Order: sequence, then structure tokens, then C-alpha cells
Amino acid sequence: MIRAENLTKDYDHGLVQALKGVSLALAPGEAVAVMGPSGCGKTTLLSILSSLEPPSGGEVFIDGRPLAGYRPYAAFRAEWVGFIFQFHHLLPHLTLLENVMLPMDPRAPRNARRDKAALLLSRVGLADKLHSRPTRVSGGERQRAAIARALARDPKLIFADEPTGSVDTDTGRAIMEFVITEAKAAGVTLLVATHNPEVAALADRIVRMRNGLIED
Ligand SMILES: Nc1ncnc2c1ncn2[C@@H]1O[C@H](COP(=O)(O)OP(=O)(O)OP(=O)(O)O)[C@@H](O)[C@H]1O
Ligand SMILES: [Mg+2]
Repeated sequence: MIRAENLTKDYDHGLVQALKGVSLALAPGEAVAVMGPSGCGKTTLLSILSSLEPPSGGEVFIDGRPLAGYRPYAAFRAEWVGFIFQFHHLLPHLTLLENVMLPMDPRAPRNARRDKAALLLSRVGLADKLHSRPTRVSGGERQRAAIARALARDPKLIFADEPTGSVDTDTGRAIMEFVITEAKAAGVTLLVATHNPEVAALADRIVRMRNGLIED
């Protein structure tokens, strides 16, 4: 489903080598956890695989085709990718329901979009908060709404970056466990960066990174 070959990423004109030659393959429906110390390159890897950032070297293939063939990348991400990143980017002036409806295809009837958004929000335990704004719910509830939004367009790929610092550890763990369970139930291919061994243990496989490289 996703294959990365020898990815490198330099920042600051090569002063920082965030990735030093990472190769990785995820089978369809596979849930893989990436672990490793802060600064080892997890977020950089997720950003490159999801087309948010270009690599300095190497190549990404999706379903056997080079990522560049899926341009424009914004359209690729809208159709293929669900994001659950450290910053959830819910729009503050929209209700949770409206936030979840936002990424859906505008050509679908509004009623259908609303029903589906309500269903997704009840699945993440927010049935009674549909009409609340993100600023009026807890950090954990915002993260769960972000999960519902990530699932809104039935993505084939989900990239999740553990919300370190944005919610307390227990909530963070519960959210990530939830992401993995939901992704598996939906048959979605998932790459999740986490510091938590209990979370990682729920994945099908753990990839360990150190200093810009995958350890074997
Ligand atoms: N935009 C940037 N400009 C310069 N350096 C960057 C940039 N983004 C990341 N880096 C550097 O690249 C390296 C890898 O960063 P990355 O964010 O991928 O680490 P991480 O494994 O996600 O860490 P954490 O667990 O703290 O989230 C670090 O040395 C970081 O300082
Ligand atoms: Mg990170």
C-alpha cells in the first residue's frame, strides 16, 4: 500500500539530517507503530509519506505508483489520507458536527453528510456534543472529534502523530488506542507515531527509529 525507499530529509541546508535513508513498506490494512526518542524523525517520516513535505532524496510509492503521480497533493490527501496530528486544527467557529462534515465530498447531499458525521461522532463517544464548538469541549474530546473528522472521507491511509503534551498521558493513550482499533475495524492502513509501548503493542508491527534511521 505504502512503500518508501531510502528516504532522506535535510533541514537547514543539510545542517540537520532528520532522515538518513529510511525504507519501509506497509501492507493494505496493516497498522504499524513507529517508536523512538524525541527528534529521531517520526513526524518527518509521517509528513513525507503523507505528501505534506517533499523528501530530500528517495521515493514514496502508493499502491505501486510514485507519489508524484498523485499530484496535486492537496487532492491526493483529501481523497486518500486521514490525519490525526499533534495539532488537531479543528475550526473554532464551526460545531464538531460541521467540522466533521467539512472534508466530505460537497457533491454528496447535505443530509447524508450530516447523518454520517453524527454517526462518526457517536462512535467516538460525542453523540451529546454534536453542536458544541471545539473551544467548549475538553482536549480529549477535541482529539476524538479530530479522529471522527479523519475518518470522514473513508481514507485508505491514516497517519497519526501522538498528541504529546496536548492532552494528559492517560487521555493520549486512550485516544491512540482508539485510533488503532477504529483503523483496524475499518480496514484502513495506519502509521502511528507513539512514545507509549502499550499503544504500540496494539499495532500489527513496531518499527523503531533512532537518529534518522530505522533500527533492525
Ligand atoms: N522544519 C524543521 N526545520 C529544521 N529542523 C527540523 C524541522 N522539523 C524537524 N526538524 C529536526 O529534524 C529532526 C527530526 O524531527 P521530528 O519532528 O521528525 O522528530 P520526532 O521523532 O517526531 O520527535 P518527537 O518525538 O519529539 O515528536 C529533529 O532534529 C528536529 O529538530
Ligand atoms: Mg514528532
